[in-house]
Amino acid sequence: MNSVSIPTMEPDRQYYFMNQCKTLVLEKKAALNRPLTYNIQTFGCQMNSHDSEKLKGIMDEIGYEEVDDEAADFVIFNTCTIRENANQKLYGHLGHVKTLKNKNKDMIVCLCGCMMQEPHVIETLKQKYKFVNIIFGTHNIYKLAELIYSYLETGKQTIEVLDETKQTVEQLPRKRKYTFKSGVNIMYGCNNFCTYCIVPYVRGREQSRKKEEILAEVEALAKQGISEVMLLGQNVNSYGNIYDYKDGKIVEVDEKDRVTFPQLLTEVCKIDGIKRVRFMTSHPKDLSDELIEVMAEEPKICKHLHLPVQSGSTNILTRMNRRYTKEQYLALVDRIRAKMPNISLTTDIIVGFPGETEEDFEDTLDIIRKVKYDQAFTFIYSKRTGTPAATMDNQVPEDVIKERFNRLLTLVNEISNAQIKRFADQVKPVLVEEVNHHDASLVTGRTEENVTVHFPGTADMIGTTVDVKLTDCKGFYFMGERIG
Ligand code: SAH
Ligand code: SF4
Ligand code: F3S
Repeated sequence: MNSVSIPTMEPDRQYYFMNQCKTLVLEKKAALNRPLTYNIQTFGCQMNSHDSEKLKGIMDEIGYEEVDDEAADFVIFNTCTIRENANQKLYGHLGHVKTLKNKNKDMIVCLCGCMMQEPHVIETLKQKYKFVNIIFGTHNIYKLAELIYSYLETGKQTIEVLDETKQTVEQLPRKRKYTFKSGVNIMYGCNNFCTYCIVPYVRGREQSRKKEEILAEVEALAKQGISEVMLLGQNVNSYGNIYDYKDGKIVEVDEKDRVTFPQLLTEVCKIDGIKRVRFMTSHPKDLSDELIEVMAEEPKICKHLHLPVQSGSTNILTRMNRRYTKEQYLALVDRIRAKMPNISLTTDIIVGFPGETEEDFEDTLDIIRKVKYDQAFTFIYSKRTGTPAATMDNQVPEDVIKERFNRLLTLVNEISNAQIKRFADQVKPVLVEEVNHHDASLVTGRTEENVTVHFPGTADMIGTTVDVKLTDCKGFYFMGERIG
C-alpha cells in the first residue's frame, strides 16, 4: 500500500480504509456475481451491543449486507468473558463456523470484544483455531476497516490487541437497532476492581467522555427521531471523575471543573425531542443524594434504578471489595424510596462467592425480602483467572451453590411476581417497541419502570408513546388496553 497517502489523523484514517475495503469488496462481488453478506453475533452487556452497532455501521459502509445467521461471507463474534459459560458459548459457535468455512473457503471469521483481552484466550486461538482470520480487543474496535484491509492485503491472520485505550474515535458510522431508542456511552472502563470481576482487566481504566460531546450526540439522535436514550457506563455514578488521556496518561479532572452525573442528566433532559432518559449501571457506593433529587424532580428520567447488590452479607461485600455494608445499602434504598415511593428497583446477585456461608446466604435472602426488587438477575459465581477472588480459599462446592441458587430463584420470583402487581389497573405511558412475536394483532412496549406490556395495536405505533391500562398481570408482564 502507498503509505504516503494514508491519513494519520482519525477518523479520516478509518474513512480511508473503509474506502479501500469498499473497492476490494466491489471487485469480489463482481467476481462472484452476488452480494457479500455479514453476520455479527453479540454476547454480553449493553456496552457490547452498543459496540456492535458501530461494527455494523462500518460493515455496511464497506459494502457487506447484513444477514441473520452465521452462514455468511464475513462473521464477527463480539465476545464477553464475564462468566466462564460466556467463553464456552464462543467455542461452541466456533466449532459450527469451522464446518461452514469448509464449505465457503473465502469466509472471513473475526473475533473481538472482552474475551480477546485475555492472553490465554489469544494463545488458544493461535494454536487451535487457525481458521480465525481477524482478532482485536475492546480498545481498538474503531479500527475494524483498517484491520480488514490489512487481512485482505496479506491473507495472514491479523491480530491487534491493545493493553489500554490510547484513543477513542467516535465519529464513525453506526447502524442502530431501533429508530426510537438508543444507547449513548458516557464513560468507558471501570476502576472498581470488585474482586470477582474481570471487567476492569478487559475494558481498562475508567474514562468519562466530555459533557459537550455527549450532549452533541444526544442532540443529533433527537433530530433523527430518537425519543429514549440510555446512558451507558459500568458505574455511571462516578461519571466526571476522569476525563481524558494526555500523553498516554489518565488525567483526573479538577474538582472545580467536575461535571457530576446528576448535572449531566439534567442537561440531557433539556434536549428537545428526548422524552425518556435511562441509565445503567449504578454502583451503590457512589449514588449521591443529588442524583436522588434530580431523579425525583425530572419527569423525563425513568423511575427505574438498577442497583446491583451482589450479596446481602457485609462480610462477603467486604471481600468482594464493594465498599458498602448491608446496612448502608438498605439506608440508601430507604432514601431513594422516601423521594420516589413507586420506583422500580432491580439488582444483580452472585451466589457462591468464595467463603460464602449459609449465614451469609441467609443475609442475601434477607436483603431481597427487605428491598423487594421488581427484578433480580441471579448469577452463580464464576472463577475468572487473574481476579483476586480466583485464588481465595474456601471456594464453595458446586452442590451447595446449586441448592442455594434454587432457593434464591424461588424467592426472587415470588417477590417480583408480587411487586409487579402494584401496577395493576393503572394507566401508564408505554413506548411501543415492536409487533408482538407470537401474535401479530398485539404490540409490545415498556413503561418507564421497564414493565413489559402487550396490547392490541399496529406496526405504525412503533416508536410512539401511548397511554395503556395495565389490565391483566401475567407473572412478569402485563396485558393491557389502549386508553383514548
Ligand atoms: N458494572 C456493573 C456490573 C457489570 S457485570 C456493576 O458493578 O453493577 C454484570 C453482573 O455480572 C454483575 O453485577 C455481577 O452480578 C455479575 N458478575 C460479574 N462478575 C461475575 C463473576 N465472576 N461470576 C458471576 N457473576 C459475575
Ligand atoms: Fe465489575 Fe465491579 Fe466494575 Fe461492575 S463495578 S464492572 S462489578 S469491577
Ligand atoms: Fe461481558 Fe465485557 Fe460486558 S465481559 S458483561 S461484554 S463489559
